[in-house]
Amino acid sequence: MNISIFGLGYVGCVSLGCLARNGHNVIGVDVSETKVKQINSGMPTIIEKDIDHIIREEHNKCRISATTDYSKAILETDVSIIAVGTPSSNTGHLNLQYIFKVAENFGRILRTKDKFHIIAIRSTVLPGTSAKFAEIIEEFSGKKRNVDFAMVSNPEFLREGTAVHDYYNPPLTLLGSDHPEAAETVASLYRQLPAEVVITDVKVAELMKYVNNTFHALKVSFGNEIGNICAALNIDSHKVIDIFCKDKVLNISPYYFKPGFAYGGSCLPKDLKGLQTLAHDHYVKTPLIESIDKTNELQITRAVEVIQQTKKRKLGFLGLSFKAGTDDLRNSPAVTLIETLLGKGYEIAIYDKNVHLSNLTGTNKEYIDTHIPHLSKLMKSQISEVMRESELIIVNNKEKEYVDVLMNVEWEHPVIDMVRLPEDIRKKKNYKGINW
Ligand SMILES: NC(=O)c1ccc[n+]([C@@H]2O[C@H](COP(=O)([O-])OP(=O)(O)OC[C@H]3O[C@@H](n4cnc5c(N)ncnc54)[C@H](O)[C@@H]3O)[C@@H](O)[C@H]2O)c1
Repeated sequence: MNISIFGLGYVGCVSLGCLARNGHNVIGVDVSETKVKQINSGMPTIIEKDIDHIIREEHNKCRISATTDYSKAILETDVSIIAVGTPSSNTGHLNLQYIFKVAENFGRILRTKDKFHIIAIRSTVLPGTSAKFAEIIEEFSGKKRNVDFAMVSNPEFLREGTAVHDYYNPPLTLLGSDHPEAAETVASLYRQLPAEVVITDVKVAELMKYVNNTFHALKVSFGNEIGNICAALNIDSHKVIDIFCKDKVLNISPYYFKPGFAYGGSCLPKDLKGLQTLAHDHYVKTPLIESIDKTNELQITRAVEVIQQTKKRKLGFLGLSFKAGTDDLRNSPAVTLIETLLGKGYEIAIYDKNVHLSNLTGTNKEYIDTHIPHLSKLMKSQISEVMRESELIIVNNKEKEYVDVLMNVEWEHPVIDMVRLPEDIRKKKNYKGINW
Protein backbone atom coordinates (compact mmCIF):
# COMPACT_ATOMS: atom_id res chain seq x y z
CA MET A 1 0.00 0.00 0.00
CA ASN A 2 1.14 3.61 -0.50
CA ILE A 3 1.16 5.36 2.85
CA SER A 4 2.06 8.88 3.99
CA ILE A 5 3.08 9.74 7.56
CA PHE A 6 2.79 13.29 8.90
CA GLY A 7 5.25 14.04 11.70
CA LEU A 8 8.62 12.28 11.76
CA GLY A 9 9.32 12.24 15.48
CA TYR A 10 9.36 9.13 17.70
CA VAL A 11 6.04 7.73 16.55
CA GLY A 12 6.31 8.81 12.91
CA CYS A 13 9.89 7.62 12.37
CA VAL A 14 9.22 4.19 13.90
CA SER A 15 5.99 3.76 11.89
CA LEU A 16 7.81 4.87 8.72
CA GLY A 17 10.55 2.26 9.10
CA CYS A 18 8.37 -0.59 10.38
CA LEU A 19 5.59 -0.17 7.79
CA ALA A 20 8.23 -0.12 5.02
CA ARG A 21 9.81 -3.25 6.49
CA ASN A 22 6.39 -4.90 6.19
CA GLY A 23 6.44 -4.20 2.45
CA HIS A 24 4.65 -0.84 2.12
CA ASN A 25 5.87 2.25 0.27
CA VAL A 26 5.96 5.02 2.83
CA ILE A 27 6.52 8.73 2.43
CA GLY A 28 7.16 10.87 5.52
CA VAL A 29 6.21 14.52 5.84
CA ASP A 30 7.58 16.98 8.36
CA VAL A 31 7.91 20.74 8.71
CA SER A 32 11.51 20.18 9.77
CA GLU A 33 13.87 20.24 6.75
CA THR A 34 16.51 18.56 8.92
CA LYS A 35 14.30 15.53 9.61
CA VAL A 36 13.33 15.26 5.96
CA LYS A 37 17.00 15.35 4.96
CA GLN A 38 17.88 12.70 7.57
CA ILE A 39 15.30 10.25 6.21
CA ASN A 40 16.35 10.95 2.62
CA SER A 41 19.95 10.15 3.61
CA GLY A 42 18.89 6.83 5.14
CA MET A 43 19.17 8.06 8.73
CA PRO A 44 16.54 7.98 11.49
CA THR A 45 15.31 11.21 13.10
CA ILE A 46 15.52 9.70 16.61
CA ILE A 47 17.88 7.63 18.75
CA GLU A 48 16.11 4.33 19.30
CA LYS A 49 17.23 0.68 19.37
CA ASP A 50 17.11 -1.03 15.93
CA ILE A 51 15.59 1.93 14.06
CA ASP A 52 18.85 3.01 12.38
CA HIS A 53 19.39 -0.19 10.38
CA ILE A 54 15.64 -0.43 9.53
CA ILE A 55 15.65 3.11 8.07
CA ARG A 56 18.96 2.47 6.27
CA GLU A 57 17.77 -0.82 4.71
CA GLU A 58 14.34 0.50 3.69
CA HIS A 59 15.93 3.64 2.25
CA ASN A 60 18.31 1.44 0.22
CA LYS A 61 15.32 -0.55 -1.07
CA CYS A 62 13.70 2.80 -2.04
CA ARG A 63 10.63 2.02 0.09
CA ILE A 64 10.91 5.18 2.21
CA SER A 65 11.37 8.84 1.44
CA ALA A 66 10.48 12.15 3.07
CA THR A 67 9.30 15.57 1.96
CA THR A 68 7.99 18.88 3.24
CA ASP A 69 5.48 18.86 0.37
CA TYR A 70 2.02 17.88 1.63
CA SER A 71 0.50 17.75 -1.79
CA LYS A 72 2.81 15.04 -3.19
CA ALA A 73 2.35 12.94 -0.05
CA ILE A 74 -1.43 13.13 -0.03
CA LEU A 75 -2.04 12.81 -3.76
CA GLU A 76 0.28 9.81 -4.18
CA THR A 77 -0.95 7.74 -1.23
CA ASP A 78 -4.16 5.97 -0.15
CA VAL A 79 -3.73 6.19 3.62
CA SER A 80 -2.24 9.03 5.70
CA ILE A 81 -1.08 8.49 9.26
CA ILE A 82 -0.98 11.57 11.49
CA ALA A 83 1.82 11.45 14.08
CA VAL A 84 2.49 15.12 14.82
CA GLY A 85 3.09 16.23 18.41
CA THR A 86 0.23 17.02 20.79
CA PRO A 87 2.03 18.66 23.74
CA SER A 88 0.38 20.16 26.83
CA SER A 89 -0.33 23.89 26.85
CA ASN A 90 0.87 26.06 29.78
CA THR A 91 -2.48 25.47 31.49
CA GLY A 92 -2.26 21.68 31.10
CA HIS A 93 -4.73 21.48 28.22
CA LEU A 94 -3.89 19.53 25.10
CA ASN A 95 -2.35 21.74 22.43
CA LEU A 96 -3.95 20.62 19.18
CA GLN A 97 -2.67 23.47 17.00
CA TYR A 98 -0.26 21.20 15.06
CA ILE A 99 -2.90 18.64 14.32
CA PHE A 100 -5.46 21.20 13.16
CA LYS A 101 -2.81 22.88 10.99
CA VAL A 102 -2.34 19.48 9.35
CA ALA A 103 -6.13 19.24 8.87
CA GLU A 104 -6.20 22.61 7.04
CA ASN A 105 -3.47 21.44 4.70
CA PHE A 106 -5.35 18.19 4.08
CA GLY A 107 -8.48 20.19 3.26
CA ARG A 108 -6.68 22.33 0.67
CA ILE A 109 -5.11 19.33 -1.05
CA LEU A 110 -8.06 16.91 -0.91
CA ARG A 111 -10.06 19.54 -2.80
CA THR A 112 -8.07 18.48 -5.88
CA LYS A 113 -8.05 14.72 -5.21
CA ASP A 114 -10.67 12.51 -6.85
CA LYS A 115 -9.78 9.25 -5.12
CA PHE A 116 -11.08 8.27 -1.67
CA HIS A 117 -8.56 9.02 1.10
CA ILE A 118 -8.17 7.50 4.58
CA ILE A 119 -6.71 9.48 7.50
CA ALA A 120 -5.60 7.58 10.59
CA ILE A 121 -4.78 9.69 13.66
CA ARG A 122 -1.95 8.00 15.55
CA SER A 123 -1.14 11.02 17.78
CA THR A 124 -2.68 11.05 21.25
CA VAL A 125 -5.79 13.23 20.99
CA LEU A 126 -8.86 13.84 23.15
CA PRO A 127 -12.29 12.45 22.17
CA GLY A 128 -13.85 14.59 19.46
CA THR A 129 -10.56 15.49 17.74
CA SER A 130 -11.12 13.19 14.73
CA ALA A 131 -14.56 14.78 14.27
CA LYS A 132 -13.06 18.28 14.42
CA PHE A 133 -10.26 17.24 12.04
CA ALA A 134 -12.89 16.01 9.56
CA GLU A 135 -14.91 19.25 9.91
CA ILE A 136 -11.81 21.30 9.05
CA ILE A 137 -11.16 19.12 5.99
CA GLU A 138 -14.79 19.50 4.88
CA GLU A 139 -14.58 23.27 5.32
CA PHE A 140 -11.36 23.65 3.32
CA SER A 141 -12.04 21.00 0.65
CA GLY A 142 -15.79 21.03 0.09
CA LYS A 143 -15.57 17.21 0.34
CA LYS A 144 -17.71 14.99 2.60
CA ARG A 145 -16.60 12.69 5.39
CA ASN A 146 -17.36 9.02 4.64
CA VAL A 147 -18.03 9.90 0.99
CA ASP A 148 -14.70 11.35 -0.15
CA PHE A 149 -12.55 10.60 2.86
CA ALA A 150 -12.77 8.70 6.17
CA MET A 151 -11.27 9.14 9.63
CA VAL A 152 -9.78 6.34 11.73
CA SER A 153 -8.49 6.79 15.26
CA ASN A 154 -5.42 4.56 15.68
CA PRO A 155 -3.65 5.36 18.98
CA GLU A 156 -0.04 4.33 19.39
CA PHE A 157 1.04 2.34 22.45
CA LEU A 158 4.84 2.22 21.97
CA ARG A 159 7.31 3.23 24.66
CA GLU A 160 10.50 5.13 23.90
CA GLY A 161 13.58 2.92 24.37
CA THR A 162 11.75 -0.19 23.17
CA ALA A 163 9.75 1.47 20.38
CA VAL A 164 10.58 -0.94 17.53
CA HIS A 165 9.99 -3.99 19.72
CA ASP A 166 6.70 -2.44 20.92
CA TYR A 167 5.65 -1.67 17.33
CA TYR A 168 5.97 -5.36 16.43
CA ASN A 169 4.55 -6.58 19.76
CA PRO A 170 1.71 -4.23 20.73
CA PRO A 171 -0.69 -5.16 23.54
CA LEU A 172 -3.43 -4.76 20.92
CA THR A 173 -4.15 -2.81 17.76
CA LEU A 174 -6.92 -0.33 18.37
CA LEU A 175 -8.98 1.32 15.65
CA GLY A 176 -11.95 3.62 16.05
CA SER A 177 -14.01 4.40 12.98
CA ASP A 178 -17.49 4.97 11.64
CA HIS A 179 -16.40 3.71 8.21
CA PRO A 180 -15.98 -0.10 8.27
CA GLU A 181 -14.01 -0.37 5.00
CA ALA A 182 -11.58 2.35 6.09
CA ALA A 183 -11.12 0.60 9.46
CA GLU A 184 -10.47 -2.68 7.64
CA THR A 185 -7.91 -1.05 5.32
CA VAL A 186 -5.99 0.39 8.29
CA ALA A 187 -6.37 -2.94 10.14
CA SER A 188 -4.71 -4.71 7.20
CA LEU A 189 -1.52 -2.73 7.95
CA TYR A 190 -1.29 -4.44 11.34
CA ARG A 191 -2.91 -7.86 10.80
CA GLN A 192 0.44 -9.68 10.71
CA LEU A 193 1.34 -8.41 14.21
CA PRO A 194 0.80 -10.89 17.06
CA ALA A 195 -2.01 -8.86 18.63
CA GLU A 196 -5.77 -8.68 18.60
CA VAL A 197 -7.21 -5.98 16.32
CA VAL A 198 -10.04 -4.19 18.14
CA ILE A 199 -12.35 -2.01 16.03
CA THR A 200 -14.58 0.28 18.08
CA ASP A 201 -16.26 3.72 18.19
CA VAL A 202 -14.03 6.67 17.32
CA LYS A 203 -14.40 8.36 20.73
CA VAL A 204 -13.73 5.13 22.61
CA ALA A 205 -10.46 4.69 20.70
CA GLU A 206 -9.53 8.35 21.23
CA LEU A 207 -10.02 8.10 25.00
CA MET A 208 -8.13 4.81 25.48
CA LYS A 209 -4.59 6.17 25.52
CA TYR A 210 -5.54 8.60 28.31
CA VAL A 211 -7.20 5.84 30.31
CA ASN A 212 -4.17 3.58 29.84
CA ASN A 213 -1.58 6.17 30.75
CA THR A 214 -3.56 7.46 33.72
CA PHE A 215 -3.79 3.89 35.01
CA HIS A 216 -0.06 3.40 34.48
CA ALA A 217 0.61 6.57 36.51
CA LEU A 218 -1.83 5.32 39.17
CA LYS A 219 0.04 2.01 39.35
CA VAL A 220 3.38 3.73 39.86
CA SER A 221 1.98 5.98 42.60
CA PHE A 222 0.06 3.18 44.32
CA GLY A 223 3.21 1.05 44.31
CA ASN A 224 5.16 3.97 45.79
CA GLU A 225 2.62 4.65 48.57
CA ILE A 226 2.60 0.96 49.50
CA GLY A 227 6.40 1.02 49.33
CA ASN A 228 6.58 4.03 51.66
CA ILE A 229 4.28 2.36 54.21
CA CYS A 230 6.37 -0.83 54.01
CA ALA A 231 9.60 1.12 54.51
CA ALA A 232 8.18 2.77 57.65
CA LEU A 233 7.34 -0.69 59.01
CA ASN A 234 10.71 -2.17 57.97
CA ILE A 235 8.97 -4.53 55.55
CA ASP A 236 10.46 -5.31 52.13
CA SER A 237 8.06 -3.56 49.72
CA HIS A 238 9.23 -5.60 46.74
CA LYS A 239 8.31 -8.85 48.49
CA VAL A 240 4.86 -7.36 49.13
CA ILE A 241 4.31 -6.14 45.56
CA ASP A 242 5.68 -9.36 44.04
CA ILE A 243 3.09 -11.36 45.99
CA PHE A 244 0.40 -8.78 45.20
CA CYS A 245 1.09 -9.27 41.48
CA LYS A 246 0.87 -13.07 41.76
CA ASP A 247 -2.87 -12.79 42.39
CA LYS A 248 -4.19 -12.70 38.85
CA VAL A 249 -7.77 -13.42 39.95
CA LEU A 250 -8.59 -10.34 42.04
CA ASN A 251 -5.53 -8.06 41.83
CA ILE A 252 -4.03 -7.99 38.33
CA SER A 253 -7.24 -8.85 36.51
CA PRO A 254 -10.45 -7.34 35.06
CA TYR A 255 -12.18 -8.10 38.38
CA TYR A 256 -13.54 -4.94 40.08
CA PHE A 257 -13.03 -2.91 36.86
CA LYS A 258 -16.70 -2.25 36.35
CA PRO A 259 -18.02 1.30 36.21
CA GLY A 260 -21.14 1.37 38.37
CA PHE A 261 -22.08 2.07 41.99
CA ALA A 262 -19.91 2.56 45.09
CA TYR A 263 -18.11 -0.30 46.79
CA GLY A 264 -19.18 -1.44 50.26
CA GLY A 265 -19.37 -4.51 52.44
CA SER A 266 -17.59 -5.56 55.56
CA CYS A 267 -14.04 -5.72 54.16
CA LEU A 268 -13.11 -3.02 51.63
CA PRO A 269 -14.11 0.05 53.70
CA LYS A 270 -12.73 -1.42 56.96
CA ASP A 271 -9.39 -2.57 55.55
CA LEU A 272 -8.89 0.61 53.55
CA LYS A 273 -9.34 2.62 56.78
CA GLY A 274 -6.99 0.20 58.55
CA LEU A 275 -4.18 0.83 56.06
CA GLN A 276 -4.81 4.58 56.10
CA THR A 277 -4.53 4.81 59.88
CA LEU A 278 -1.45 2.58 59.85
CA ALA A 279 0.21 4.98 57.39
CA HIS A 280 -0.93 7.99 59.40
CA ASP A 281 0.41 6.55 62.68
CA HIS A 282 3.80 6.15 61.01
CA TYR A 283 3.77 9.69 59.57
CA VAL A 284 3.59 8.38 55.99
CA LYS A 285 1.63 10.58 53.58
CA THR A 286 -0.69 8.57 51.30
CA PRO A 287 -2.87 11.07 49.40
CA LEU A 288 -3.75 8.54 46.70
CA ILE A 289 -5.00 5.91 49.15
CA GLU A 290 -6.82 8.59 51.18
CA SER A 291 -8.67 9.77 48.06
CA ILE A 292 -10.25 6.35 47.40
CA ASP A 293 -12.93 6.72 50.07
CA LYS A 294 -13.74 10.27 48.88
CA THR A 295 -14.30 9.01 45.33
CA ASN A 296 -16.57 6.31 46.72
CA GLU A 297 -18.68 8.84 48.63
CA LEU A 298 -18.98 10.93 45.47
CA GLN A 299 -20.45 7.93 43.66
CA ILE A 300 -23.30 7.86 46.21
CA THR A 301 -23.83 11.61 45.69
CA ARG A 302 -23.89 10.99 41.96
CA ALA A 303 -26.62 8.35 42.41
CA VAL A 304 -28.71 10.86 44.42
CA GLU A 305 -28.32 13.43 41.63
CA VAL A 306 -29.25 10.95 38.87
CA ILE A 307 -32.38 9.98 40.83
CA GLN A 308 -33.31 13.63 41.51
CA GLN A 309 -33.05 14.45 37.80
CA THR A 310 -35.89 12.01 37.01
CA LYS A 311 -38.31 14.12 39.14
CA LYS A 312 -39.98 10.87 40.31
CA ARG A 313 -40.84 10.75 44.03
CA LYS A 314 -41.89 7.11 44.54
CA LEU A 315 -38.75 5.00 44.40
CA GLY A 316 -38.45 1.22 44.32
CA PHE A 317 -35.10 -0.33 45.21
CA LEU A 318 -34.19 -3.82 44.02
CA GLY A 319 -31.29 -4.90 46.20
CA LEU A 320 -30.16 -3.47 49.54
CA SER A 321 -27.07 -5.56 50.31
CA PHE A 322 -23.75 -4.46 48.82
CA LYS A 323 -23.73 -7.11 46.09
CA ALA A 324 -25.79 -9.99 44.68
CA GLY A 325 -25.84 -13.31 46.51
CA THR A 326 -25.38 -11.95 50.05
CA ASP A 327 -27.55 -10.56 52.83
CA ASP A 328 -24.63 -8.57 54.31
CA LEU A 329 -25.82 -5.00 54.92
CA ARG A 330 -22.71 -3.74 56.69
CA ASN A 331 -21.42 -0.64 54.86
CA SER A 332 -23.82 -1.20 52.00
CA PRO A 333 -23.76 1.99 49.91
CA ALA A 334 -27.43 1.36 49.05
CA VAL A 335 -28.29 1.86 52.74
CA THR A 336 -26.51 5.24 52.74
CA LEU A 337 -28.21 6.18 49.46
CA ILE A 338 -31.67 5.29 50.75
CA GLU A 339 -31.10 7.13 54.04
CA THR A 340 -30.07 10.25 52.09
CA LEU A 341 -33.18 10.03 49.90
CA LEU A 342 -35.44 9.47 52.91
CA GLY A 343 -34.02 12.69 54.35
CA LYS A 344 -35.09 14.44 51.15
CA GLY A 345 -38.66 13.20 51.55
CA TYR A 346 -38.81 10.47 48.91
CA GLU A 347 -41.27 7.57 49.28
CA ILE A 348 -39.29 4.35 49.19
CA ALA A 349 -40.08 0.65 48.83
CA ILE A 350 -37.32 -1.97 48.98
CA TYR A 351 -37.08 -5.57 47.90
CA ASP A 352 -33.98 -7.66 48.56
CA LYS A 353 -34.34 -11.39 48.09
CA ASN A 354 -31.46 -12.34 50.38
CA VAL A 355 -32.20 -9.81 53.11
CA HIS A 356 -35.85 -10.91 53.09
CA LEU A 357 -34.80 -14.55 53.41
CA SER A 358 -32.37 -13.83 56.23
CA ASN A 359 -35.01 -11.77 58.00
CA LEU A 360 -37.34 -14.75 57.85
CA THR A 361 -34.72 -17.16 59.17
CA GLY A 362 -33.39 -14.64 61.68
CA THR A 363 -29.73 -14.82 60.56
CA ASN A 364 -29.31 -11.10 59.91
CA LYS A 365 -32.23 -10.01 62.08
CA GLU A 366 -30.12 -8.58 64.87
CA TYR A 367 -28.23 -6.28 62.48
CA ILE A 368 -31.46 -5.14 60.82
CA ASP A 369 -33.22 -4.53 64.16
CA THR A 370 -30.33 -2.61 65.71
CA HIS A 371 -28.84 -0.74 62.76
CA ILE A 372 -31.58 -0.15 60.20
CA PRO A 373 -34.97 -0.61 61.88
CA HIS A 374 -36.19 2.43 59.91
CA LEU A 375 -35.41 0.63 56.64
CA SER A 376 -36.89 -2.71 57.59
CA LYS A 377 -40.30 -0.98 57.66
CA LEU A 378 -39.85 -0.14 53.96
CA MET A 379 -38.98 -3.69 52.95
CA LYS A 380 -41.51 -5.69 50.93
CA SER A 381 -41.79 -9.44 50.88
CA GLN A 382 -42.71 -9.59 47.17
CA ILE A 383 -40.91 -7.90 44.29
CA SER A 384 -44.29 -7.23 42.66
CA GLU A 385 -45.25 -4.96 45.59
CA VAL A 386 -42.25 -2.74 44.89
CA MET A 387 -43.04 -2.69 41.18
CA ARG A 388 -46.66 -1.72 41.87
CA GLU A 389 -45.88 1.04 44.37
CA SER A 390 -43.00 2.75 42.54
CA GLU A 391 -42.61 5.26 39.70
CA LEU A 392 -38.86 4.67 39.34
CA ILE A 393 -36.89 1.44 39.88
CA ILE A 394 -33.28 1.56 41.08
CA VAL A 395 -31.39 -1.68 40.63
CA ASN A 396 -28.60 -2.23 43.15
CA ASN A 397 -27.55 -5.75 42.41
CA LYS A 398 -27.80 -8.23 39.61
CA GLU A 399 -29.97 -10.97 41.19
CA LYS A 400 -31.55 -13.09 38.48
CA GLU A 401 -35.01 -12.48 39.97
CA TYR A 402 -34.68 -8.71 39.40
CA VAL A 403 -33.41 -9.18 35.85
CA ASP A 404 -36.31 -11.52 35.03
CA VAL A 405 -38.87 -9.05 36.34
CA LEU A 406 -37.36 -6.12 34.44
CA MET A 407 -37.26 -8.14 31.21
CA ASN A 408 -41.00 -8.68 31.59
CA VAL A 409 -42.96 -6.46 29.21
CA GLU A 410 -45.60 -6.02 31.92
CA TRP A 411 -43.36 -3.46 33.67
CA GLU A 412 -42.44 -0.30 31.81
CA HIS A 413 -41.01 1.68 34.74
CA PRO A 414 -38.10 4.03 34.22
CA VAL A 415 -35.00 2.21 35.51
CA ILE A 416 -31.77 3.50 37.01
CA ASP A 417 -29.13 0.82 36.72
CA MET A 418 -26.16 0.70 39.09
CA VAL A 419 -24.90 -2.70 37.98
CA ARG A 420 -24.98 -2.85 34.14
CA LEU A 421 -28.03 -5.00 33.54
CA PRO A 422 -28.26 -7.16 30.39
CA GLU A 423 -28.51 -5.43 27.02
CA ASP A 424 -32.21 -6.22 26.51
CA ILE A 425 -33.02 -4.09 29.57
CA ARG A 426 -30.50 -1.40 28.60
CA LYS A 427 -32.28 -0.95 25.27
CA LYS A 428 -35.65 -0.20 26.92
CA LYS A 429 -36.92 3.35 26.87
CA ASN A 430 -36.57 5.33 30.14
CA TYR A 431 -33.47 3.32 31.06
CA LYS A 432 -30.43 5.09 32.52
CA GLY A 433 -27.08 3.68 33.63
CA ILE A 434 -25.34 5.47 36.49
CA ASN A 435 -22.20 6.10 34.42
CA TRP A 436 -22.67 4.73 30.91
N1 LIG B 1 6.80 9.38 22.02
C1 LIG B 1 6.08 8.38 22.48
O1 LIG B 1 6.57 7.48 23.17
C2 LIG B 1 4.64 8.27 22.10
C3 LIG B 1 3.98 7.06 22.28
C4 LIG B 1 2.65 6.96 21.91
C5 LIG B 1 1.99 8.06 21.42
N2 LIG B 1 2.64 9.24 21.30
C6 LIG B 1 1.89 10.38 20.76
O2 LIG B 1 2.21 10.49 19.36
C7 LIG B 1 2.26 11.85 18.98
C8 LIG B 1 3.64 12.16 18.42
O3 LIG B 1 4.58 11.99 19.45
P1 LIG B 1 6.14 12.03 19.16
O4 LIG B 1 6.81 11.72 20.45
O5 LIG B 1 6.46 11.24 17.96
O6 LIG B 1 6.31 13.59 18.83
P2 LIG B 1 7.61 14.34 18.32
O7 LIG B 1 7.58 15.70 18.91
O8 LIG B 1 8.83 13.50 18.49
O9 LIG B 1 7.36 14.46 16.75
C9 LIG B 1 6.35 15.23 16.19
C10 LIG B 1 6.81 15.66 14.80
O10 LIG B 1 5.75 16.35 14.16
C11 LIG B 1 6.33 17.35 13.34
N3 LIG B 1 5.31 18.34 13.00
C12 LIG B 1 4.77 19.33 13.75
N4 LIG B 1 3.86 20.02 13.05
C13 LIG B 1 3.80 19.44 11.82
C14 LIG B 1 3.04 19.68 10.67
N5 LIG B 1 2.16 20.68 10.60
N6 LIG B 1 3.25 18.89 9.59
C15 LIG B 1 4.13 17.89 9.63
N7 LIG B 1 4.89 17.59 10.72
C16 LIG B 1 4.73 18.38 11.78
C17 LIG B 1 7.43 17.90 14.22
O11 LIG B 1 8.40 18.61 13.46
C18 LIG B 1 8.01 16.60 14.81
O12 LIG B 1 9.02 16.06 13.99
C19 LIG B 1 1.90 12.66 20.23
O13 LIG B 1 0.51 12.87 20.22
C20 LIG B 1 2.26 11.73 21.35
O14 LIG B 1 1.52 12.00 22.52
C21 LIG B 1 3.95 9.36 21.61
